[in-house]
Amino acid sequence: MTSPAERAAELRRQIDRANHAYYVDDAPEISDAEYDRLFRELQRLEAEDPTLATPDSPTHRIGAEPADALRKHTHLRPMLSLANAFDAAELAAWEDRNARMAPEARGAYTAEVKIDGAAVSLTYRDGRLVTGATRGNGVVGEDVTSNLRAIPDVPLVLAGEGWPALLEVRGEVYFPVASFRRLNADRERAGDPPFANPRNAAAGSLRQLDPEVTRRRRLRMFAFHVEVVEGEWAVTTQWDILERLVAWGFQVEEHRALLPDLAAVEGRIPAYEALLPTLPFQADGVVVKVNRLGVQLDLGVVGGREPRWAVARKFAPEVAVTRLREIRINVGRTGALNPYAVLEPVEVSGVTVSNATLHNEDQIAQKDIRIGDWVEVVRAGEVIPQILGPVRERRDGSEVPFTMPEACPACGTPVERPPDEIMRYCPNATCPGRILESIVHFAGRGAMDIRGLGYERVRQLLETGLITDVADLYALSAERLEELERFAEQSSGQLVEAIEASKGRPLSTLLFALGIRHVGKNAAVLLARRFGSLAALRAASAEELAEVPGIGPTMAAAVVGFFAEPRNAALLDRLERAGLTLVEPRAADRDGPLSGRTYVLTGTLPTLSRGAATEMIERAGGRVAGSVSKRTDAVVAGAEPGGKAEKARTLGIEVIDEAELLRRLGAAQ
Ligand code: IVH
Repeated sequence: MTSPAERAAELRRQIDRANHAYYVDDAPEISDAEYDRLFRELQRLEAEDPTLATPDSPTHRIGAEPADALRKHTHLRPMLSLANAFDAAELAAWEDRNARMAPEARGAYTAEVKIDGAAVSLTYRDGRLVTGATRGNGVVGEDVTSNLRAIPDVPLVLAGEGWPALLEVRGEVYFPVASFRRLNADRERAGDPPFANPRNAAAGSLRQLDPEVTRRRRLRMFAFHVEVVEGEWAVTTQWDILERLVAWGFQVEEHRALLPDLAAVEGRIPAYEALLPTLPFQADGVVVKVNRLGVQLDLGVVGGREPRWAVARKFAPEVAVTRLREIRINVGRTGALNPYAVLEPVEVSGVTVSNATLHNEDQIAQKDIRIGDWVEVVRAGEVIPQILGPVRERRDGSEVPFTMPEACPACGTPVERPPDEIMRYCPNATCPGRILESIVHFAGRGAMDIRGLGYERVRQLLETGLITDVADLYALSAERLEELERFAEQSSGQLVEAIEASKGRPLSTLLFALGIRHVGKNAAVLLARRFGSLAALRAASAEELAEVPGIGPTMAAAVVGFFAEPRNAALLDRLERAGLTLVEPRAADRDGPLSGRTYVLTGTLPTLSRGAATEMIERAGGRVAGSVSKRTDAVVAGAEPGGKAEKARTLGIEVIDEAELLRRLGAAQ
């Protein structure tokens, strides 16, 4: 028997892992329903025996730590999460608890659609957007101001009047389902891994280092909450807040209702349950809020984590039962062996499902999933269906436990499982499974972006022996391609041109395209910016790499390991001979209206955060320095500028305000 203490420790470990996968990697490993179950079990254990609650228990915090690559932003007030109520009884129990604390809690409620996206906080000073941030761990998030400015629903300046001097608006950034499908279709065509669901796509897009990418993805935002930080406003209910938000120019989800009591709320639930699947965005419940702000204040917050005055009324996800026919393995480009279930096709929430991810062998063992089992399948908003577990009562003894292969299914090489990892890897760099995936990744959008080179074409080029690796792509001629089946003259020419054009991509793109383990797009940009050239990067030690903010020791070791591999070294030499760009253009070398000019920022600018202003100057070709010197071209000063503006004046360097900066940038936009 496991003791409650051991079980609690195990639950904490699983929840921490799931949080990391969800919040940091944007790649959830377990379904929401399963996460909720683990979380509730832990909450229950800790409630039964409070000595089990460690100070760092995930029940005390929200989400995971922010990624290091983006600037951190400390929220003026913590960003809270919400408790759930899965049925009418849980909702009634929520009201009863509230009424014991504040009798007036029984009264009017607002009902709002719970938008399933990424929570954001927008700070407005005197009606102008100053900073936008993600939730992060609830206390510290990431400054994504420039990305949020790229979203049309985010007012840069509030409309109307009557806003408090310092104001924080909370809302949800989301991906409309239609744009999400388009994005994933594009990604799959380009060989990039699709996003698991619109929520992760929204979170991932917000945390891009390049706001241009965010802009192109057409994110949207709904607002639903206001924290007044400084100043006054005459508002007494949540309903008023929603109306004010609309008047200030925010988008507020239209299916909101003001209801006189809880019975009326529960009465609306069936209508909401029917509505949610028809909405053009993903929604995962109804948020019920005590309408009167005075009562909200009396009720307060539980454990620094959830307000008592709001609850998410959720619906149980649709569960289907079907037969697991087979467990297959896909070999990824890093060599990771990814097990997935082949199911007898079954309809779940209106979609026919025939495959489900199985994540890794530990999860298969933990859930005791066997080949031939009847299994419960859910699609709780996720595009990739999840298996909850087997229906043990339906076993007849013919089910076969699954064991991971000891040899790679694509090339037969014995596989390896590094001590601290849960995945097995095919170590063979020439494994045909890995090569196919890695070439498709190399050519994909976001990587070298070679149009017309998806799975089918790459497979054909490999099978006919025209290529064996990515360097061979650069030796292809239109004449050779034309000899192949399904290659018309025109498409051969286009492919060769697309390959030629890819030679101009910067080092950061190439680094990402090479598919070095653990090196995603953001890390590739950080490395390329820091080292500037492939030669410098190849010469760097693991210690030097790990000094770059945002690069951890695991990634540093993976990069060094990659370059040390003779086969990779030879490949890079061939790419160099083929004439690829192996450097990262420095910001100051970029063409733009501020090319070659150095700016210093000081004080609080009226609308732009430091991060946003830096980003915009760099995009326009300029450079931002930390201190004023003779080489400074101009100082941009905001409120309470401090000594830098002073120094600039004594040196005769011009001091400009944000409006002037924006005017100069104007030509760049
Ligand atoms: S109110 C203190 N209203 O759901 C304010 N949240 O699971 C608490 N969410 O963190 C949030 N739609 O990001 C509220 N209409 C809505 C919402 C909503 C989506 C998100 C929000 C929150 C999360 C909790």
